[in-house]
Amino acid sequence: MKTASRSRPTKSRRPARTTARRAARPTERDIDIDANRRLLNNYRYVEHEAMVQLAGWLPRAATFELKCEMGRSLWEYSQHVNSLYLRLREIQSPAFQKPSDEGLVRLMAGLLHASDEFAYASGLYRVVIPSLIASLETHETATFPNSDQPSVHVIGHVLLDLRAQLRRVEPILRRAERAGQFTARTRAWERYIRGLLAACGGVSGRERRHAAPAGPACRVVFVAPREAARDGRFTNLFADQGAMPPEDNYAEHTVEEFERYSTEMLAAETVALVLFAVRGMPWEFQYDSARHLYDEVRHCLMGYEWMRAHAMDPFKSPQYLHIYKWRSQFPPVMQYCMLTMGNEVHAFPYRHRRVEAHQKSGDQLSEQFVRYDIADETQHVRFGKRWLPELIKHVGEKRSLEKYTADVIAVWEREYRTGRLTINVE
Ligand SMILES: [Fe+2]
Ligand SMILES: [Fe+2]
Repeated sequence: MKTASRSRPTKSRRPARTTARRAARPTERDIDIDANRRLLNNYRYVEHEAMVQLAGWLPRAATFELKCEMGRSLWEYSQHVNSLYLRLREIQSPAFQKPSDEGLVRLMAGLLHASDEFAYASGLYRVVIPSLIASLETHETATFPNSDQPSVHVIGHVLLDLRAQLRRVEPILRRAERAGQFTARTRAWERYIRGLLAACGGVSGRERRHAAPAGPACRVVFVAPREAARDGRFTNLFADQGAMPPEDNYAEHTVEEFERYSTEMLAAETVALVLFAVRGMPWEFQYDSARHLYDEVRHCLMGYEWMRAHAMDPFKSPQYLHIYKWRSQFPPVMQYCMLTMGNEVHAFPYRHRRVEAHQKSGDQLSEQFVRYDIADETQHVRFGKRWLPELIKHVGEKRSLEKYTADVIAVWEREYRTGRLTINVE
């Protein structure tokens, strides 16, 4: 019979477990639950910050294709943040936490203040997102495949989007480089962001860390844009919204109808400004606003698609940029109220008449576009009704919701509907 005293020396002769030996064991993983929580939190933080920053940059970006991609990326980030949030709330409380790594916080806070749209875009899409992808790729296989499958599932889907995003954005950046739109400041900024990333050991924080770089001379403190930018292909920037041809003139009215869709970037830009400016609202508000914003980018692109299908050049469309300028002079909650309870609530009778007109004339493309638009706009009004009560509380508005909305809509009726947009120059 073996005794305890005889078995003990056998155990003590075992070599000490080294890190290398641990890593070699097939049942043990590089990412344990604590590392997992910290990493998922880093990913959520990076995409959440990028989402809000893109909202700030979207109106300021002039290059049309880049502006559209910013809207799409922003919405995709909102999907990822939401998935990561749903996972994080299972393993940490509260689910939304500022990362413990000051270097990562410095990187994301620094990214915003780029000198120009290409500097911002190259910092995000050429430096930060590739590092996020690298970390996700490692994470996907270094965590426990069964125990942590919910994280693996999220990571796989995020990777799919992020890789596709870089494939779409990179040609836009290369085109801008070839056209000489990358200045010395643009490149200096990208180097700076690369330095900040190296200082925090990548998005994962698991790489070798280097000393943090000093802030470059090209840094420009970001200010929320009060004017919307357009690139040089747009030639008609501030035309007045004249009367449309009468609806019974089907052919001419339809052309104008879709030309107006092509200018819905203005609505995306207003929601972007609101999303950027209003902080501290629940995550669901940001999530809904990201979708609202991206829907308006898609409505704009719907106009482009229609016009191109009818041999028209959408870049020749008037841009009505004074509408954004006019709206942006009001407090963000008022802008949101004018858009949802003014423009969006009132559009339905007209849109339904258009569906009928397109059906009658057998124009399937136009009919389908308007019906998808109605589906989206129904959601936008729902967002407005859901969030306005919260928003007015959030900013300490004393008037009741009804009184506040009535007052705001009176301004909208007086200035927007009549086309007499009063812009107070500061
Ligand atoms: Fe729209
Ligand atoms: Fe809308």
